[in-house]
Amino acid sequence: MSKITIRYQKVSDAKRFYEILSNPNFIYFPAKPKSVEDEKKWLQDNPKRRKNNSEWNYTVLCGNQIVGTVGIKVNPRRKYIGEIGYFLDENFWGKGIMTKAVRLAEKEGFKKIGLTRIEILMQPKNKASEKVAIKCGYTKEGLLKKAIVGTDGKKKDALLYAKVL
Ligand SMILES: CC(C)(COP(=O)(O)OP(=O)(O)OC[C@H]1O[C@@H](n2cnc3c(N)ncnc32)[C@H](O)[C@@H]1OP(=O)(O)O)[C@@H](O)C(=O)NCCC(=O)NCCS
Repeated sequence: MSKITIRYQKVSDAKRFYEILSNPNFIYFPAKPKSVEDEKKWLQDNPKRRKNNSEWNYTVLCGNQIVGTVGIKVNPRRKYIGEIGYFLDENFWGKGIMTKAVRLAEKEGFKKIGLTRIEILMQPKNKASEKVAIKCGYTKEGLLKKAIVGTDGKKKDALLYAKVL
């Protein structure tokens, strides 16, 4: 398999992200852009998000092919805490790609962004996501009741995994 790398997202990634996120099998991932234009508009604000240290969003590349995203949301009140989130093109699932991408993003989080705690939240049924957190060495801290929003817009329980420095 080609090398897995991450870089900041570009506005020109919009078409590919729209394609990946339009997959109806993304049953645990609520972000669905309405159009490529909509996705472009969202991507345009990334430099602002980095400047105010609220979000650091990266494109995951397999060789030079765009395969997904890994991002870090910084807690607005506790800037030392970040939450990692991710998605990957279904054609690339189960090859260890997101495990590698999370490790790369985590390095940015701890070394560059200055975090001392990184969290990963997922619905208990999202076994692939839970496995990524476990393989990356995150510790299960508990079950948060009605903590995240599902694709149906309703609040869902979430497993909390974390790694601290
Ligand atoms: C979650 C996601 C990013 C994982 O990416 P990935 O590159 O396939 O992950 P990895 O290959 O690194 O690891 C996934 C692991 O879960 C395992 N897995 C996948 N589906 C599983 C299931 N239903 N039950 C148990 N294990 C499962 C895989 O076998 C693999 O483990 P292994 O390496 O021991 O074989 C990808 O499935 C995805 O994009 N899902 C849709 C979006 C999403 O749910 N994002 C996360 C929101 S919290």
